[in-house]
Amino acid sequence: MGRELDKDILISQINALFGKYKNQLNEVNNIKELTELQIKIFGRKSELTNILKDIKNISTPDDKKIVGQQANFAKQKLIEEYSNQETYLKQNLLKNIEEKEKIDITLPGIQKEIGRSHPITQMSELCEDIFMKMGFEVYYPFTIDNDYNTFEALNFPLNHPARDNWNTIWTEDEHIAIPHTSSMQNRILSSNKPPIRAIVVGRCFRNESTDVRHEHTFKQIEGIYVDKGINFTHMLGTLKEFFSKFYEKDIEVKFTPDFFPFVEPGGMMSLSCILCNGKGCAVCKKTGWLEIMGCGMIHPKVLEMGNIDPNTFSGFAWGFGLERIIMLKYNINDIRYFYSGNLDFLKQF
Ligand code: FA5
Repeated sequence: MGRELDKDILISQINALFGKYKNQLNEVNNIKELTELQIKIFGRKSELTNILKDIKNISTPDDKKIVGQQANFAKQKLIEEYSNQETYLKQNLLKNIEEKEKIDITLPGIQKEIGRSHPITQMSELCEDIFMKMGFEVYYPFTIDNDYNTFEALNFPLNHPARDNWNTIWTEDEHIAIPHTSSMQNRILSSNKPPIRAIVVGRCFRNESTDVRHEHTFKQIEGIYVDKGINFTHMLGTLKEFFSKFYEKDIEVKFTPDFFPFVEPGGMMSLSCILCNGKGCAVCKKTGWLEIMGCGMIHPKVLEMGNIDPNTFSGFAWGFGLERIIMLKYNINDIRYFYSGNLDFLKQF
């Protein structure tokens, strides 16, 4: 025979349990604690389950009914509390994950560096553009050429000492790494009929020790202009026009007579040194002028070797160092920066 149980005692036990568990459910902080509490409240051996089991031992059916209803009501309410708490904790957990793992898309991230043309390439293109607009056609030289084009067709007699300045590397089959873009003069003269307006843009090589103005490898831009009645003033006008476009301002030029076997008269042209405003610095050798090109009226013999009659036509030619004119445009005080691979330097262009 079962124990006789008092309805009021059971109801007060149920109420006490309900209050206790409700508080505990509200206080749990995570799903793990909640799961443990769930077993403690609703498990087979829990106090609540025991009370429910005990209801059968209440003697009067009416009391049984009252206690049963009260117990089920309390259980139902605790299930609701549990389920609310579970929803709350799960949402909280997701919120925490979102917080921790969120990506701030407003941050710039790692930028990919975009490459660009080398300053020499950029400036070659600028020069080509200016000369093309002035009516010049663009040629590119052979990097390795024969003796005829490099020297002979430019009126360098065999074994003439003037060749020594231009001797670079010879191949076994007697080709040379070109020391100047004048190597294209004969090809251009002999394959065109005047009027001829051409530039040659290409890499040259020299056998010399490097310093702030000299590299073993550099770029030249050669110019050739042949027509009837061309004289020295046309050359000065053409070059001044080019430099005013290149530097976007008028610039002083100076001509100094000099010897090149392929021009007569010939000489060097210098630009006033922008680096020191003509005061004198290491780049302009304290003269206030930077020599940037050889130039002159094309020698009659060179015209003849190019199948052009020097009695009918005349012309001028020049060859300037591209790096030198860029140095003046951008205040660069050492030519060796160009091929140094120094990114801090290159990124400025
Ligand atoms: C010549 O190379 C002649 N072929 C130029 C010429 C063409 C004269 C047509 C007459 C008619 P030169 O060696 O002086 O000349 O060089 C011309 C220019 O190239 C120089 O003024 C300079 O600007 C540049 N240059 C020459 N050598 C170097 C070097 N080692 N490093 C950098 N630039 C150089």
